[in-house]
Amino acid sequence: MNSSLATVAYIGATILFILSLGGLSNQESSRRGNLFGMIGMTIAVLATVFGPQVNSGGYAWIIAAMVVGGGIGLYLARMVQMTQMPELVAFMHSMVGLAAVLVGFATFVDPTATTGFEGSAKTIHELEIYIGIFIGAVTLSGSVIAFGKLSGRISGNPMLLPGRHWLNLAGLLVVIYFGGVFMQAHTVQDGLVPIVVMTVLALLFGVHMVMAIGGADMPVVVSMLNSYSGWAAAATGFMLSNDLLIVVGALVGSSGAILSYIMCNAMNRSFISVIAGGFGTTSAKPTAAAGGAQPAGEVTPVSATETAELLREAKSVIIVPGYGMAVAQAQHTVFEITKLLRDKGVNVRFGIHPVAGRMPGHMNVLLAEAKVPYDIVFEMDELNDDFPATDVTMVIGANDIVNPSAQDDPSSPIAGMPVLEVWKAKTSIVMKRSMASGYAGVDNPLFYKENNRMLFGDAKKMLDEVLVVLKT
Ligand code: TAP
Repeated sequence: MNSSLATVAYIGATILFILSLGGLSNQESSRRGNLFGMIGMTIAVLATVFGPQVNSGGYAWIIAAMVVGGGIGLYLARMVQMTQMPELVAFMHSMVGLAAVLVGFATFVDPTATTGFEGSAKTIHELEIYIGIFIGAVTLSGSVIAFGKLSGRISGNPMLLPGRHWLNLAGLLVVIYFGGVFMQAHTVQDGLVPIVVMTVLALLFGVHMVMAIGGADMPVVVSMLNSYSGWAAAATGFMLSNDLLIVVGALVGSSGAILSYIMCNAMNRSFISVIAGGFGTTSAKPTAAAGGAQPAGEVTPVSATETAELLREAKSVIIVPGYGMAVAQAQHTVFEITKLLRDKGVNVRFGIHPVAGRMPGHMNVLLAEAKVPYDIVFEMDELNDDFPATDVTMVIGANDIVNPSAQDDPSSPIAGMPVLEVWKAKTSIVMKRSMASGYAGVDNPLFYKENNRMLFGDAKKMLDEVLVVLKT
């Protein structure tokens, strides 16, 4: 394939990627968006493999790498549980970071990679390598820690080192200093020490940054690492002089940045304060470890039969799903119940909090999988005023996103975070297995409210029981 044809293919792929992002912004068009993305990626891979930058001697390596990588990807995609999706995404971000680091080192040590670069072009190319490896290494180690936190292998509590901001600043100054040394190096040997020191510091910086972030701030970190992985890919594109990779990396980087902004808004936090770390500094104990006022009182448990009765008598129901629904894989039963109630004329709607679950759009994906109609799925802001006119709210495996202390208790670690005001309905029913806290480790006064009922047990099991009663 000559370079003009490859360029045309790249432009086509770029347009398809933009259409893909547009499609993914809406549930109805998301399948089409995915299809555009897949076609765009196929064109991109073919145009790259058969393009002018690859000679026929490289085909065997490329095919071998694609078979191994594709095999691993296929295996993981088939095996991964829906609840492990966030970890998988974090893992994939770390792979993008690793690729940027490896490409950076390969470009640096390969003498042919700098052929044709003279004067300022050479300086810019070296800068691309240095910055590319830096972003890649931060993304790599940050994503590995995020993977550990999301999968529960690492505690969600923030690790706050004394003088951590000064540590970060000192690290940054050392990175800048060694950047200068690197730019002045004339041989690969001379440049190796500064680039290795910078890589180690960048890896430590990634670890430190994500370790310092408390459980409640993880949504912002997930979207931020998504953005970083895009910039790492763009940096790889600069190093390899591949225009498509630059454009695609910039698309992912900027859309991830917009997502981070949305996540910050959803949590009423400033981006800088999240990065600075320390939000959600509580331990994950179920009681008032948060330091806020300890909720007191009795909880009122209900049975599946009583829950079914409440639903049967209701005219309007709002269902609020959370992470526990994903754990229990209860979405299909939720759909069955929804269908049954709607057939009886009950107005059933779903309220989705932007940070519900463990990854952006987590609940929307689950509900779409269970074929819940899109037009009854609403965002938090669209529904929050409707709770006072609602008979029953059913909270399925959600906790932090329905915690009134976010509004009532200024000392709570989640103070200021907008929440779904389920307690304003005539009756709220919370389904969960115990009195344990949610991801942020904050106790929830909702459980003790007079109009609240607790349906204890696995969400899928309890909903199956509710469904049986509703059917009789
Ligand atoms: P959480 O606050 O984590 O609460 C989930 C609840 O589900 C738990 O309290 C748990 O209580 C219950 N649960 C677990 N397994 C269950 C099962 N099998 N059946 C029934 N209940 C079950 O979830 P949320 O309300 O969705 O809030 C999300 C939290 O995760 C927020 O703090 C958010 O900041 C954080 N987070 C979000 C993201 C993104 S991007 N969305 C990423 C990282 C972190 P029991 O153990 O008592 O059953």
